[in-house]
Amino acid sequence: EQDPLVIFTPSGKRGRFPAGTPVLQAARALGVDLDSVCGGRGICSKCQITPSFGDFSKYGVTVHEDALSEWNSVEQRYDDKRGLKPGRRLGCQAQVLRDVIIDVPAESQVHKQVIRKRADTRAIVMDPATRLYFVEVLEPDMHEPSGDFERVASALEEQWEIKGLTADLSLMAKLQPVLRKGKWQVTLAVHHDHTGAAPRLLEVWPGLHESGLYGLAIDLGSTTIAAHLTDLETGEVKAASGLMNPQIRFGEDLMSRVSYVMMNPGGDKEMTRAVREALSQLAKELAAEADISPDLIVEAVVVCNPVMHHLFLGIDPVELGQAPFALATSSSMSLAMAELDITSINPRARCYILPCIAGHVGADAAAVALSEAPEKSEDLVLIIDVGTNAEILLGNTKRVLACSSPTGPAFEGAQISSGQRAAPGAIERVEINPETKEPRFRVIGSEIWSDDPAFAQAIGTSGITGICGSGIIEAVAEMRMAGLLDPSGLIGSAAQTGTARSVPEGRTHSYVLHDGTSENGPLISVTQGDIRAIQLAKSALYAGARLLMDEMGVDHVDRIVLAGAFGAHISSKHAMVLGMIPDAPLDKVSSAGNAAGTGARIALCNIAARKAIEANVSKITKVETAIAPAFQEHFVSANAIPHATDPFPELAK
Ligand code: FES
Repeated sequence: EQDPLVIFTPSGKRGRFPAGTPVLQAARALGVDLDSVCGGRGICSKCQITPSFGDFSKYGVTVHEDALSEWNSVEQRYDDKRGLKPGRRLGCQAQVLRDVIIDVPAESQVHKQVIRKRADTRAIVMDPATRLYFVEVLEPDMHEPSGDFERVASALEEQWEIKGLTADLSLMAKLQPVLRKGKWQVTLAVHHDHTGAAPRLLEVWPGLHESGLYGLAIDLGSTTIAAHLTDLETGEVKAASGLMNPQIRFGEDLMSRVSYVMMNPGGDKEMTRAVREALSQLAKELAAEADISPDLIVEAVVVCNPVMHHLFLGIDPVELGQAPFALATSSSMSLAMAELDITSINPRARCYILPCIAGHVGADAAAVALSEAPEKSEDLVLIIDVGTNAEILLGNTKRVLACSSPTGPAFEGAQISSGQRAAPGAIERVEINPETKEPRFRVIGSEIWSDDPAFAQAIGTSGITGICGSGIIEAVAEMRMAGLLDPSGLIGSAAQTGTARSVPEGRTHSYVLHDGTSENGPLISVTQGDIRAIQLAKSALYAGARLLMDEMGVDHVDRIVLAGAFGAHISSKHAMVLGMIPDAPLDKVSSAGNAAGTGARIALCNIAARKAIEANVSKITKVETAIAPAFQEHFVSANAIPHATDPFPELAK
């Protein structure tokens, strides 16, 4: 008689095993992705499976009710204490007796898929660097002397086939009491470096650790620092927050920060300290928001531009301020968060920094490439990550080009008279009636437009606080469409435009968006200075994109992806009216949200992605904007709204 047949779904993997084989063992033998933290001891419940019974002609088997062994005392005890969902079994306890079909539910898979919000992107497959392992450690024996750590390492090797465990001094100091408290049963958090370095013990808990493991995906921008606190088992984002980069007080854009260092020897140290302190603070706040202990944060992935990269790592950025823009290192880095003085989280937490592409094109561009995968696109795609320094990628399966463009902080709400970071209370959407020239708008945190009687109540006590990047983009584009602004960007007077919302301000005019007379918030207007700041920013963006198109030898692209650390997504129509982006069919312009941040999250959740991006950056051709004469020409022509010479046929449709 043949051994029973075991078929796993959804993988379809199958094999015959002697009667009495535990399901977990069969899964392991077949390479089926079935989780386990306790190593089959019936305490972690990660191995839950669901057997199916009945006639399955598709598989050519009939599964009888007695296909699996009855509950044993371990399974019974687990069910009494915690309760198994109906139909569920513990895969490490249930044994195969007859032919059976076994479903592995998503939550029992290690390599779960995390669906990303956008329909056009691939899911993130979980494969984090740090994992939990429950081990039973031998008690010390006078006659066979060996250290507690060595016995932990051999337990990991014997029970999990993980060799060569290493640990820091701080962990050695902690190990002995934890082992004794756990009665020689402990859970280890082990970090596996994708470069093949030895596995490293990051944390140890007595008994079974069940409060999870977390990581931070950090997008360290020139103006805004954004972070996502992510569950390393499920990939779920538990808390997300951002704050202004405190380095702003040393200079609004990157080059002014480099100049600050040139003028003030040692100034880089001040900036390094400022950004590290901000990050420590942000990590602490996120842990509080997610209601977890900061000690459970064991990893971070950081993406940033080259100047931020150097300043964060404590490297003088002066070389990046002048040709040939040499990076101290362009490779990815794996180091301890403690080395970076980030001490508000687990003291042994690791940090992975994506590789930089070149002196002007940083790890943030690499992260955008990881998130948007231009190298997998059949169409020629232009990806623009809007920020104080914009990252621009153009490419398809054949070739990918990248550059960065110094847009300045206007798109992040800085240098704008009423500008602010994208946060509740910021105006994010604007419409202006072309007949009456009256505006209406929406603020972050509310779905109600300002001309709705329910608006005041909807925005609550926080009120209107300012205007963010996407708001100012829409405001300027709407002003142009409503005839309040000429193609050169000049705001017309009340007499020229026919609205009292145009008020003189010195020798120029401002357009009043919100008059500040109600209790909803202060006066918010778009000044001539705001328009100029947006014109400079958008010209730099457009010129960067055009430079890549020149290099590629094309005068149009198939599709455009707009990304940025915005609260809301940028409206494609408004971006095109403004001439931020080249002409393209509007339905081919999409918003990707914070793509650099998403890239960081992918690298946090999946170590294979780290390898992939490291291999990929060497294939990306970087184009230097700072020294290209054509950049200046494109920049000047792009100053007009939408553009002095380039046509926008799609807008006319
Ligand atoms: Fe832990 Fe089954 S593997 S309960």
